[in-house]
Amino acid sequence: MKKVIALLMALSLVCFSVPVFAEEQAEAPRILIAYLSRAGENYNVGETREGSASAAYAGYIEKGNTAIMAALIAELTGGDLFEITTVTPYPEDYASMLRIVQEEIDTDARPELAAQVENMADYDVIFIGYPIWHGRMPQAIYTFMESYDLAGKTVIPFNTHEGSGQSGTQRVIKNALPDCTVLQGLAIQGKIAQENEERTRTLLTDWLTGLNLLK
Ligand SMILES: Cc1cc2nc3c(=O)[nH]c(=O)nc-3n(C[C@H](O)[C@H](O)[C@H](O)COP(=O)(O)O)c2cc1C
Repeated sequence: MKKVIALLMALSLVCFSVPVFAEEQAEAPRILIAYLSRAGENYNVGETREGSASAAYAGYIEKGNTAIMAALIAELTGGDLFEITTVTPYPEDYASMLRIVQEEIDTDARPELAAQVENMADYDVIFIGYPIWHGRMPQAIYTFMESYDLAGKTVIPFNTHEGSGQSGTQRVIKNALPDCTVLQGLAIQGKIAQENEERTRTLLTDWLTGLNLLK
């Protein structure tokens, strides 16, 4: 009986421990940080612009919140940055964005991407970053995931948001990539990424330390 209990305990440790990147890896993993992010008018950040229909709650930023998070991840891990951009750029103003994103969701769109990662085979670990739009990840992230053979790679989601957290997107990515090891992601409020670098660095450092991926 004792043996059975010991076996069950060992199995539960295997099944429920939080996966991290294997420490005993002989060479440092080659890391790519691919992200989608949008500058322009966004919720709860930036300078309000007179005449904007959304001026009461939105302002203009020069660098997207997720782009800021991605650049810090690159710095902290030593990975390469890749921006996921669409052939048809997203509009600057927030009100148009709300409408376009809803249309993309309604049609389950796969927006065409403007650039490809030419050397995807060179990477072991792919961070995938995005904002939450209408409670989801942008449809272009599906295009990105469907554009490559990612089998066998380690994938790590990250995102910014204004209250929805990761909004179930990490589960969506895990389900979409059954042949990848998908590790615990991180969600940071966009306003914090935009306005508080020290706090953002701390959150990222703690997370990356836990994943054993800090440079
Ligand atoms: C069209 C649109 C829809 C959004 N929907 C949500 C949402 O459902 N939940 C949420 O928390 N934030 C939402 N946001 C806020 C963004 O997730 C947040 O501002 C994010 O940090 C933007 O990242 P970026 O600057 O990298 O694009 C939305 C923003 C836009 C433009």
